[in-house]
Amino acid sequence: MTEPQTGRVEIDDLVIRFKGKQGPVTALERTRHVLEPGTFTALIGPSGCGKSTLMNAIAGFVTPAEGQVRLDGQTITGPSSDVGVIFQQYALFPWFTALSNVRYGLKQFGLSKREEIDRARAALAEVGLEAHADKYPQQLSGGMKQRVAIARTFAVGPKVLLMDEPFGALDAQTRLIMHDLLLDIWRKHRATVLFVTHDVDEALLLADHVQVMSHAPGRLIRHYPLTQPRPRALSRSGNELLEIREEILGLLHPKSTHADPLI
Ligand SMILES: Nc1ncnc2c1ncn2[C@@H]1O[C@H](COP(=O)(O)OP(=O)(O)O)[C@@H](O)[C@H]1O
Ligand SMILES: [Mg+2]
Repeated sequence: MTEPQTGRVEIDDLVIRFKGKQGPVTALERTRHVLEPGTFTALIGPSGCGKSTLMNAIAGFVTPAEGQVRLDGQTITGPSSDVGVIFQQYALFPWFTALSNVRYGLKQFGLSKREEIDRARAALAEVGLEAHADKYPQQLSGGMKQRVAIARTFAVGPKVLLMDEPFGALDAQTRLIMHDLLLDIWRKHRATVLFVTHDVDEALLLADHVQVMSHAPGRLIRHYPLTQPRPRALSRSGNELLEIREEILGLLHPKSTHADPLI
């Protein structure tokens, strides 16, 4: 018997609007989509198209103007421990050690102090930071801070993990290390991941599904299912991923594929 899988996200005719000076502004056009349990979806689109807005709706941080988001059939009405969020800014408490930052996320469960510390240490070990548990964020590199954020989120056992350009502030080398780390942890925990990135290559290296959004007000315009085994490489010629990359770049920068007579 296989266990019933949880973490199914249904985005059901969702529309998000914000108040603007001249009335309501649509930040997300009507969007309908399902994230299947345990899948890894990368979301890519031009700046301001509504990627963060879509994430914030799934996280329960913004209220839909129309439609809804459901997690395993239940309408999302606010933040919950089932949905973890990781931002580009590390969002760690500077006055807490790495261990205390991870423990903070566990407070809601009413564990004993011993259980809380054990679970937080285990989470830090999973991201390779057991030796740095007592350091403060300012003593850690950018990559290490993001590892603490990942440990804090996975320690809670979320069904869904939303990552908003999580590695955007890291150098290229550190990013590659973080990709391996994230894929390892995701395989173990099997949360449903939605990963926003500006970087087409990052999307192609990581995801099972790449969703491309249109210019603002955004909606999902193209879906690429990726079945290539990981670890993936984009360097080989004749690689199908390279063709997909060209297509996505064409969607994101339509002008660059045509000579512009005004320039
Ligand atoms: N809290 C808010 N209040 C008003 N407008 C917002 C708010 N959040 C986002 N927007 C607007 O919604 C649009 C989509 O923003 P966002 O989701 O942040 O885009 P992205 O993450 O794709 O760059 C933008 O025009 C942005 O200015
Ligand atoms: Mg954003």
